[in-house]
Amino acid sequence: MTSALFDLDFEEAKVKHEELAKAISIHDKKYYQQDNPEVSDAEYDALRRELEILESKFPKLVTKNSPTQNVGAKPAKGFNKIKHSVPMLSLGNVFSEEELDEFLKRVRKFLGLGEDDIVEIAAEPKIDGLSCSIRYEKGILVYAATRGDGYEGEDITQNVKTIKDVPHEITGDVPDVLEVRGEVYMRRDDFIALNKSQEAEDKQPFANPRNAAAGSLRQLDASITAKRPLYFFGYALGDVSETFASTQWGVREKLKEWGFSEADPAALCQNAQEIMRYYNSINEARPNLNYEIDGVVYKVNDLDFQKRLGFVSRAPRWATAHKFPAEQAVTIINDIDIQVGRTGVLTPVARLEPITVGGVVVSNATLHNQDEIERKDVRIGDHVTIQRAGDVIPQVVNVLIEKRKNDSRAYAFPNKCPVCNSQAIREEGEVAWRCTGGLICNAQAVERLKHFVSRLAFDIDGLGAKIIQQFWEEGLIKTPVDIFTLKERDKKTLTPIRAREGWGELSAKNLFESIEKSRKIDFNRFIYALGIRQIGEATAKRLASSYGDLKNLTIAMEAAQDKLGAAYQDLINIDDIGPSTADDLIGFFAEPHNQDILNKLDDILDIQPYELPQNTGSKVAGKIVVFTGTLTKITRAEAKAQAESLGAKVSGSVSKKTDYVIAGEDAGSKLKKAKELGVVVLSEDEWITLVL
Ligand code: IVH
Repeated sequence: MTSALFDLDFEEAKVKHEELAKAISIHDKKYYQQDNPEVSDAEYDALRRELEILESKFPKLVTKNSPTQNVGAKPAKGFNKIKHSVPMLSLGNVFSEEELDEFLKRVRKFLGLGEDDIVEIAAEPKIDGLSCSIRYEKGILVYAATRGDGYEGEDITQNVKTIKDVPHEITGDVPDVLEVRGEVYMRRDDFIALNKSQEAEDKQPFANPRNAAAGSLRQLDASITAKRPLYFFGYALGDVSETFASTQWGVREKLKEWGFSEADPAALCQNAQEIMRYYNSINEARPNLNYEIDGVVYKVNDLDFQKRLGFVSRAPRWATAHKFPAEQAVTIINDIDIQVGRTGVLTPVARLEPITVGGVVVSNATLHNQDEIERKDVRIGDHVTIQRAGDVIPQVVNVLIEKRKNDSRAYAFPNKCPVCNSQAIREEGEVAWRCTGGLICNAQAVERLKHFVSRLAFDIDGLGAKIIQQFWEEGLIKTPVDIFTLKERDKKTLTPIRAREGWGELSAKNLFESIEKSRKIDFNRFIYALGIRQIGEATAKRLASSYGDLKNLTIAMEAAQDKLGAAYQDLINIDDIGPSTADDLIGFFAEPHNQDILNKLDDILDIQPYELPQNTGSKVAGKIVVFTGTLTKITRAEAKAQAESLGAKVSGSVSKKTDYVIAGEDAGSKLKKAKELGVVVLSEDEWITLVL
């Protein structure tokens, strides 16, 4: 569709433009005025996109009446989703010079370089905004998406097009496909001015420039975004059809040439000393910059190195962020409350006299656990230093003893759950007190539901923490299954959701739509959503890739109850899963109530079996491989990462299920076992030939 559009000349484009504009305006009318849409959102968006492509090729076609100039009417129906062709991941962190050294050492070790080999680093500020991916095809901006969960984001094309320094078209030797990844942000002075006008209009001010940028960008009505002073800088590439640079610095230069802004001041550094000099200079300049930065980012400059280093879990091995120290302030603890988490952990939370820290009002801070309270000797009424760093929950750092009143008393940690009153216990070797109420504890049930609908799990818009709490109290949603029967029950009730305060026809409809959409879910997200103790996002993904689908996983977890059997061995052979995590998993699947819910969910949901993310076409996709002995051409870590990126599973032990054993020099017992079991043994060279 798009390529045909590119071939039109002006006259042909004009005719096509007219047709499209007419069709869009008919659909708009049907949608807004008659509430009777004729086409799906996707079809409608495709028409708009075609129109935009024509207008970016022939700017003369942009008239006052063109639908692209009237984006204000786009309905509040939520954004469409866009799958990232290359995942948008986050960054690891270093917090000190020592950690920076470790980062550089890791890079050298992975690449098999010597201690004295120089690994050049491109360093630049880490601007606090929202990441965004902008795709160009043949130089024309075709879409832009938020990061979302890293694999799928929201379509914010219209909004991004209103950003001042985002080119709609780039010319020159541009690759056919070019995805520019970067950060959308708001400058400090613009933020202050925006808040003033918000207040003048009796609207809520934004807490900080980042929130203001996020609130402005994620507007369903792009004409609002257009009025907000947003900027963008490019920091990395996504999908690109041809290479056009060999270094990160080269990418920066090229992006500048194509009209993008870049984060400045940046530097090329040869060693840790130069990097630290850069870090200190930026930290000093920080208060005088017109945008908020929360650190600097270091990237291995050589793009070939970047490719070889690849990714681990959710972050590249070739880059890291060096965060500035957290911002601190002093305030008073008015009270200490206990929060009960979804796995029953009791977390003490300090209720503070509200205070602004680094531009954000803070009124709660975590005290972590009983030991932390005792170690810091925190008491109600104390003056304390609190700190906040990035998005993490503010923490209590220390007590200002000199300000303590004489009658202060130490805090007595409860041994009962404050919500269900069940006994709380603290097991030996554990730091946390845990409520033993399990399924009868309301707090745990509500927290589990909140987790179930959260962003990395079912991601159900419209079912936030408050609504979950409310629906739970009313008995509308007691288990995850109830979420998916809500609509049917709502039809029959005398007190439908749409009739409640704060709701309406549209918001109820939106809620049911997002529930409907979430029925189709990837298996790894589904596992994560279950909220099993110790099973975070990365482990859920490993389980999904090892077991494929829910049926397999359920059977395997039942079989794994026998700790001497093969199923148990297989389970603890998975990276990150040790005996304690295995116990939590097996225990979860053994609980009849959980089994009942899993069965019901399996019936009503469309759980997508796990697909190996990349290179399913490679010769080693889906194969189980074991590396043993000393490899001479690449390091073991690189070999493992490469195998995984080609879709193979790397295991630490040889069994009948092993497909290949790659034997380096001096291979010992594993090679012997492979031969005994008749597993195919490859030399390092044979392996390289197989995967190249
Ligand atoms: S490079 C593969 N460079 O910080 C990811 N990120 O905390 C490469 N960020 O997700 C990211 N400034 O949204 C990079 N100069 C910069 C950045 C930057 C801000 C954001 C980015 C990233 C997040 C991680």
